[in-house]
Amino acid sequence: MPEPKIIGILGAGRVGTALARLVFAAGYEVRVATARPPAEIALLLEIMAPGALPDTAEALIADSDIVILALPLSKYRSLRPELLAGKIVIDAMNYWAPTDGSIPEFEGEAASSEVVQGHLAGARLVRSFNHLGYHEIEQRARPHGHPERRALVLAGDDAEARNMVAGFIDRLGYDPVDAGGLLASRRFGVGTPVFGADFGRREMTELLSRDHRVAAIQ
Ligand SMILES: NC(=O)c1ccc[n+]([C@@H]2O[C@H](COP(=O)([O-])OP(=O)(O)OC[C@H]3O[C@@H](n4cnc5c(N)ncnc54)[C@H](OP(=O)(O)O)[C@@H]3O)[C@@H](O)[C@H]2O)c1
Repeated sequence: MPEPKIIGILGAGRVGTALARLVFAAGYEVRVATARPPAEIALLLEIMAPGALPDTAEALIADSDIVILALPLSKYRSLRPELLAGKIVIDAMNYWAPTDGSIPEFEGEAASSEVVQGHLAGARLVRSFNHLGYHEIEQRARPHGHPERRALVLAGDDAEARNMVAGFIDRLGYDPVDAGGLLASRRFGVGTPVFGADFGRREMTELLSRDHRVAAIQ
């Protein structure tokens, strides 16, 4: 697959702006969109993520090689499946009932990304970036081979998409740990031992395999 060049981020909050800064610093073109017109987030981006360009969701999705979902999960139904079909999409969203409100489809066994993939049928969805805090996104990035390089887990049903996202994660300053199909994203959602764990690749791989739920879903 060709190297991604343009990264689109849906959401300009804590996660969206932190990611926009890190992704821009890594040399990508960065576009950001929210539900508001681009002119309404231009000043915010100038201050919070200089270099990132405001856009409409439609244009951003059309032009980007990777689209990152950094909006509240409660808004996932506003994402338009027809626009995202065929696109490589990173789902960084988590279900957090105290802020999202209680949403029945996220209260069951399935990982939130499985529900999102169900809505975005046709998108090449990869879950990642959800298990580290927004304040750590830039702070914990490290160059290749650094002894404190942190691992980021990813999962998705499209192996080629996972491969591209792994390369992207690597370039941003994290060691990618490929957990396999989207079902495996149950291993690093809210409430799992992986969530918030600051580990390198070896420890993260061990932690993933120690989680009892892993055996249950393999
Ligand atoms: N906070 C964390 O440490 C953390 C860590 C990992 C993952 N996450 C997940 O990342 C997502 C974003 O979290 P956050 O803390 O960045 O939230 P946030 O600060 O509340 O920001 C949410 C952003 O999404 C925008 N938005 C709302 N509806 C949208 C839509 N329909 N399309 C595009 N953008 C839309 C909001 O724009 P308006 O301001 O105009 O509404 C805002 O810019 C959540 O799903 C969260 O669970 C959070």
